[in-house]
Amino acid sequence: MPHAGLSAAAALLLTGSYLWWRKHPSACPYGLRVWVQVPHPLITRRRLRTVLRPSGAERVLEIGPGTGYYTTDIAHWLAPDGRLEIFDIQQQMLDHTMKRVRKAGLGNVGAAQGDARELPYDDASFDAVVLTTVLGEIPDRERALAEIARVLKPDGRLVVGEIFIGDPHWIGPKRLAADTAAAGLRFRERSGTPVGYFARFER
Ligand SMILES: C[S@@+](CC[C@H](N)C(=O)[O-])C[C@H]1O[C@@H](n2cnc3c(N)ncnc32)[C@H](O)[C@@H]1O
Repeated sequence: MPHAGLSAAAALLLTGSYLWWRKHPSACPYGLRVWVQVPHPLITRRRLRTVLRPSGAERVLEIGPGTGYYTTDIAHWLAPDGRLEIFDIQQQMLDHTMKRVRKAGLGNVGAAQGDARELPYDDASFDAVVLTTVLGEIPDRERALAEIARVLKPDGRLVVGEIFIGDPHWIGPKRLAADTAAAGLRFRERSGTPVGYFARFER
């Protein structure tokens, strides 16, 4: 039964790679961007808007925008008075997203490259921070969350989106709540299901 043998080998390879990625947090390479460009079930843009509740002249930081699945929508929600900063470890992701931003005619988005474990922003300078399927890619999550708490205003909010389907770096709601609590961020609400959700935390 050569087919059965091949299927078993493929299943083993897939499971092995999944487990390897799970144990080795690292940024999804630009070359694999097709994975972030497909529709995001459960963690829809509409759901993000409901949990984030953007308003007025707010300043929002999106960490790890990838190819900008949510970026132009967030910028539209904040226009005309609010501003969005995008921050990613890969310049290619930022270039890709900024191309979309320009095409959409948006003038309220700024971009900076770097590692979320060391954010180049002032203390208490953002009303909200958004990360969707990013936290699990960061090797030192504790440090990144401490940085996020630092740049949030005292009443600022953090919105995290996670989806289990196909993402080896997925973080479940319980784990996330424990990690954010350690950074001084209090859980407020969650929308979606345990395998695909947006959660909101406040400083
Ligand atoms: C899986 S993609 C998610 C993209 C987008 N948020 C989405 O949901 O479509 C993760 C993004 O986080 C970025 N990233 C990973 N580790 C990072 C780090 N330490 N600092 C900043 N960005 C990081 C990656 O480069 C990539 O653009």
